[in-house]
Amino acid sequence: MPNNSAWAVILAAGKGRRLAEACGGSAKQFLNWQGLPLWWHSAKVFAASPLIRGLVFVFPKDRLTEAQADLSRLDQQDSLGLPWLCVAGGEKRQDSVRLGLAALPQACEEVLIHDSARPFLSPELISTVLGPLRQDTPEGEEPFLGVIPGLPLTDTIKEVLPDGSVLRTPARSFLRAVQTPQAFKLPALRAAHARVEAEGVEVTDDASVMEYCGHRVLVAPGEIDNKKITLPEDLALLAPPFRRWPCSGYGYDVHRYGGNRPLRLGGILIPGAELVVAHSDGDVLLHALMDAILGCVGLGDIGQHFPDKDPAWENVSSSLLLEKVLEMAAEKDFWLTQADLTIIAQRPRIAPHAQNIRRNVARLLGLPENRVNVKATTEEGLGFTGQGQGLKAVALVSGMR
Ligand code: CTP
Ligand code: MG
Repeated sequence: MPNNSAWAVILAAGKGRRLAEACGGSAKQFLNWQGLPLWWHSAKVFAASPLIRGLVFVFPKDRLTEAQADLSRLDQQDSLGLPWLCVAGGEKRQDSVRLGLAALPQACEEVLIHDSARPFLSPELISTVLGPLRQDTPEGEEPFLGVIPGLPLTDTIKEVLPDGSVLRTPARSFLRAVQTPQAFKLPALRAAHARVEAEGVEVTDDASVMEYCGHRVLVAPGEIDNKKITLPEDLALLAPPFRRWPCSGYGYDVHRYGGNRPLRLGGILIPGAELVVAHSDGDVLLHALMDAILGCVGLGDIGQHFPDKDPAWENVSSSLLLEKVLEMAAEKDFWLTQADLTIIAQRPRIAPHAQNIRRNVARLLGLPENRVNVKATTEEGLGFTGQGQGLKAVALVSGMR
């Protein structure tokens, strides 16, 4: 048995009607994925298998010259390392297969037919189908002339009449959803395709052609990822993976006592506390929090966005500024997960207000309360907080982006 005679036929001659609307009318096999046409991805997988001797590409008749030129260019940039040729396809899939088979060289004895709309196959799948095709058949048994990848079904399948009524329910355990590449002995597949053509039989895969002619076909394990791009929703399979990375930001702010703004912390008014000096409402805690959020997304600090020279921010509510900062962060795909806040003040005592502050900050951030922590400390009478000249706050914010 020659071990070196398998070629692959890569089908790329369809119109992709079910998807065409969604992708601007171009047939799906020409979609650009990772900077390359979809059909090229299957070609690279076959080229990576030592079992494959050469490739036949089947392109739409009206795009043959252009596709062949693209193929030559891609092969020059990143060599396939095996011989290939291109032919024009036909009206139906089975016509394209027949035309592809006709182009195979004399020496070829086995062929794998593959839909270029299935770019996710692995090179292992090629051995999975070729292996059993090459195995000797026990005495007295009919050989398998075709091996195809298939997966068991999870849904129950109904055969349904045109009026919607159920005709029958085949036992699920016997059913398989089959894929490509499908491997065949070439002379038998050629003859079978000639016969279905002559008899006007329509099929949707090549195993059906062999079954029609009474040949034995084996189903080998398929691959879950080996999906066919068919419907607009399948385009999601081609979308780049959306990755978020953890990030954290640190914020620090100070306000001096002795001004004319009533003390607010986390948007909560602290009655009886000393007044603070500020251009905005002087909420030291929300200011540290905003800087921490800006830190997460690399957007500088609040001074840059809300300068204290700008009359627009005169006595502005820091809750409102926080809303703006959250909008800016959302535009950077930031997803906030946690805020840890510390108020450093000799007076007033924060403990009686901590729970209120926590609840309000969680509300402002749209986080559950257990994702926000508010703590307070004095500096033991030391420094400017210790001497009661002012207060400060630090914030650590974590999230993903
Ligand atoms: N194919 C082909 N020649 C045809 C029809 C189909 O080479 N005349 C190829 C397609 O390019 C595809 C594979 O066969 O890679 C599987 O067919 P299918 O998923 O049905 O693709 P299309 O026929 O292009 O799509 P649709 O049925 O939605 O029009
Ligand atoms: Mg089709």
